[in-house]
Amino acid sequence: MSAEGEFTLSATPMAGLDDETALRLLRDGHLEVEGRLVEASNMTLYCSVRLGGLSAACVYKPVRGERPLWDFPDGTLASREVAAFEVSAATGWRIVPPTVYRDGPFGPGMCQLWIDADPDVDLMVLIRSRQPSLRRMAVFDAVVNNADRKGGHLLPLPDGHVHGVDHGVCFATENKLRTVLWQWRGKPLSREAVNVLARLERDLEQGSLGHRLRELLTPAEVEATGARVRKLLDTGLHPLPSQDWPAIPWPPI
Ligand SMILES: Nc1ncnc2c1ncn2[C@@H]1O[C@H](COP(=O)(O)OP(=O)(O)O)[C@@H](O)[C@H]1O
Ligand SMILES: [Mg+2]
Repeated sequence: MSAEGEFTLSATPMAGLDDETALRLLRDGHLEVEGRLVEASNMTLYCSVRLGGLSAACVYKPVRGERPLWDFPDGTLASREVAAFEVSAATGWRIVPPTVYRDGPFGPGMCQLWIDADPDVDLMVLIRSRQPSLRRMAVFDAVVNNADRKGGHLLPLPDGHVHGVDHGVCFATENKLRTVLWQWRGKPLSREAVNVLARLERDLEQGSLGHRLRELLTPAEVEATGARVRKLLDTGLHPLPSQDWPAIPWPPI
């Protein structure tokens, strides 16, 4: 997607920033709006962030720019995006780019490292593939109950890793899993996924993940997240599409 506006796009994405440095930069850096992502449904701003000699491009979504959603009456899209990052960080799968909640020129919101996706990857081909990074994302989406995993929310890198973005409509207490990644439906979870889910369960119950999520989500949403992890571990299977909810986002890309 292109960024457009009366500003020039001078922010330089920092390839190779480690996650901790990226988080510090996003949290403490000087945030400057460079343009608006015109096709985005909410106020999604392309920005630069600078701290000392470091700089990077990022996405900033102020809470003030959020449209109310009837099916997500509590909380904010921005805090759910940060919660999705926290879950992703706890898995160790690096699905969601570094994301923080912070103040900015249009008030508090989420701020996420900009990822330069590989323009040569055909998203229609990618979403049908069985790449391990997508299989992990399918498990992640089941945990966070992602209601909007479309092709455009995948950011493939030249090395084969795939990042996922736009997690504002996750963490509903009812099943709302809506995704293009159904290729593993009903299949046994990989051993790796089972190990990661077992770790997540502990981290939610006794570790820092539970604390962090309780600051970002409602108690019921945190509880439902734990229940989804336990259900995945109990069944040992990737979930099946729901019969009473459209299981594929429209448009799928
Ligand atoms: N961190 C990011 N790095 C690179 N591109 C991004 C990032 N976040 C979003 N985008 C691009 O911007 C588009 C719109 O952002 P998105 O998060 O989907 O906003 P909205 O909530 O308004 O739909 C995405 O489909 C993707 O192409
Ligand atoms: Mg989007």
